[in-house]
Amino acid sequence: MKKVITYGTFDLFHYGHLRILERARALGDYLVVAVSTDEFNAIKGKKCVYPYQHRARIVEAIKYVDEVIPEHDWEQKGQDIVSHKIDILVMGNDWKGKFDEFKKLCEVIYLERTPDISSTEIKTNVKNQH
Ligand code: CTP
Repeated sequence: MKKVITYGTFDLFHYGHLRILERARALGDYLVVAVSTDEFNAIKGKKCVYPYQHRARIVEAIKYVDEVIPEHDWEQKGQDIVSHKIDILVMGNDWKGKFDEFKKLCEVIYLERTPDISSTEIKTNVKNQH
């Protein structure tokens, strides 16, 4: 069985999120998604509309997703790859090259982002409509 992992915040779940999860799952047989916790977002200076529990449950309900785990810090990827016996790490190409160090542990694939949509853009658009 080929296992794939990907990472993200997944706030205000949108079409770009759906497409990356669909393509990530299609690369293997089992998809693990690490969703960043509220504490980790605070470290990154990111503030979500939805709390971790809601973001995690929404991602978990997507049919391409087999398992959700929390992402607590920048350092855990190597451990996750080993402990979950991951074959492929998938990241959006906004991270291109940034995770090449994990090529020693598994395959690393950067997928094209879906154009013209992001959680940040949704927040801005909603704000500007009021
Ligand atoms: N993603 C994508 N296409 C988009 C937006 C996101 O493929 N248009 C992918 C990212 O590359 C990442 C995953 O979805 O692998 C989760 O991204 P996340 O940062 O949660 O989404 P964004 O909408 O980019 O969020 P933000 O605006 O807060 O950065």
